[in-house]
Amino acid sequence: MTKTQSRYVCQACGDSFLRWEGQCRSCSAWNTLVETLVREPGSASHHRVAPAAGPGPVSLADLSEADVVRIPVGIGELDRVLGGGLVPGSLVLVGGEPGIGKSTLLLQAAAGLSAVGPVLYATGEESAAQVRLRAVRLGLIDGAAGSRVTVYAESSVERVVETARVARPVALIVDSIQTATVDELEGPAGSVGQVREAALRYMELAKGDGIAVLLVGHVTKEGSLAGPKTLEHVVDAVLSVEGDRSGGLRLVRATKNRFGSTEEVGVLEMGEAGLREVPDPARAFLVDHDDAAPGSVVGATLEGSRALLVEVQALVAPTGFGTPRRTAIGLDPGRLALLVAVLARRAGIGLGSHDVYANLAGGLAAGDPGLDLAIAIALASTFRDRPVAAGTLAIGEIGLLGELRPVGGLERCLREAARLGFTRALVPAGRGASPAIAGIEVVTVRTLREALDAALGSTGG
Ligand code: TYD
Ligand code: MG
Repeated sequence: MTKTQSRYVCQACGDSFLRWEGQCRSCSAWNTLVETLVREPGSASHHRVAPAAGPGPVSLADLSEADVVRIPVGIGELDRVLGGGLVPGSLVLVGGEPGIGKSTLLLQAAAGLSAVGPVLYATGEESAAQVRLRAVRLGLIDGAAGSRVTVYAESSVERVVETARVARPVALIVDSIQTATVDELEGPAGSVGQVREAALRYMELAKGDGIAVLLVGHVTKEGSLAGPKTLEHVVDAVLSVEGDRSGGLRLVRATKNRFGSTEEVGVLEMGEAGLREVPDPARAFLVDHDDAAPGSVVGATLEGSRALLVEVQALVAPTGFGTPRRTAIGLDPGRLALLVAVLARRAGIGLGSHDVYANLAGGLAAGDPGLDLAIAIALASTFRDRPVAAGTLAIGEIGLLGELRPVGGLERCLREAARLGFTRALVPAGRGASPAIAGIEVVTVRTLREALDAALGSTGG
C-alpha cells in the first residue's frame, strides 16, 4: 500500500509544513494552510500508469451519441434540472441552507432511484432511526424503496466507499460532505482539507465504479458552499435548493452542469409528506388578493425555458430618524437603489426621506432586470397609495435615463400571462412590433413616466 502522510500546504505559495499554523512561514499569508494528503515521493503510484479503462482516444467523428445514459430520479422537476436524469458515474453536489429540505429531497430521490436499482444512503448528519422517521413521514417504508434503499449511518469516507464498492448501488447519497471524514487526515470534519479529500475520494468512486454520487453540502449565511471553492470544480454538477424556509416553495437550480443546461429551474413545494411538484409553476409565485392592493405589481421572469410570473411587493414609509433604510428581499439591492434614484430624477417620485422595502412573493430570488418595471411601479404605487388594476402585469428593464428597454423572452412571458388570465401588459416600446397575443392588451411604453401614467393614472406632474 502507498504510504501517505498529511501535510499542511499553503494555498498561496504551495510550501508545506508538518503542523498547522495561522500564518505561512514562507510567504507570510494568513490562514492559508490546508491539510492535504501527500503521497511519499518514490512510491510506486507516482510512476505507474494505470491500465486504460476506456477505449483510448477516439476521433470526434467516431464518438457515439448514445454515450450519456440517464437514470430518472422520479421527481420530474429534479430530472429537469439535471438535464433529463442522473448520469451514472457522475458526482453531483446538492447545496442549500440548513433546514431548506436537502435531506428530504435526497431521500425522496433515493426512493425514486430505487426503481432502477439499489441505493445507498450514507448519513453522518442523522442517526438511522431519524432517517427512518423521515422515511415513514414520506411514506417510503413500504414498497420497493423500503427494501432497496439501504441506510448507513457512517461518516468515515473509507468505510462508505468500501461498502459502496461491494454493494454496487446505482446511486450513493452522502449526507453531508461536511460530516465526512478521511481517517488519514487529523483535521476535524468540515475543515477544508477534509472536505476536499472526501470529495476527491467520492469522485474516484463515481468515475471508477460508475456509481452516481450525490453529495449534500451546507451553504453558509453568505450563500457560498461551506468548504473550499475547489469542491465546485471537482463535481460534475452543482444544484442549489433555495427558498424561504417559512414558506412552502422551493426552487432547485443548477449553478453548474456538465450534462445539461444551467438555466432550468425546478419548482417544488414542501408539504406534510415532503416535497411535491407544483402543478403550475408559472403561477406559483402569485398571491391571491381579494382587491388590488397598492404596492403590489405582477412582473415576469424567464428561468431557462420557463416563464414565471411573480408578484413584486413594495412598501415605503417616512423615515423616523437617521438614514432611510433600503431593504430588498429576493431582489438585487443595487438595482433597488438604482430604481429609487431613477424614480426621483426621472419621474418626480422622491423617496429620499422614506424607508423602502421591496420583495418578491413566495421566496423567489431573481436578479432579472426585466423585473425593473414591476418594481418601479410597485414603489410608485405604494408611494401614491394607488393600486394597479387587477389583471395587469409589467415587464421591462429601466435605464438610468428613465427609458425602457426591451427584454428577452417577452412573448413567452406574455403567453403565460394570457393563459393565467391577465388582460393587460405594460411592455417597452422597441425594435419590431410588439407581439399580439389573444386575450391580452399589450400597452407599449417608452419611458418610466409613461409607464406610471399607464399603470396608475396621470398625475399631471
Ligand atoms: P431537511 O430535509 O431536514 O433539511 P436539510 O437537510 O436541508 O437541513 O428539511 C427540514 C425541514 O423540512 C424541517 O423544518 C421540516 C420540514 N419538512 C416538512 O415540512 N415536511 C416533510 O415531510 C419533511 C420530511 C420535512
Ligand atoms: Mg439534512
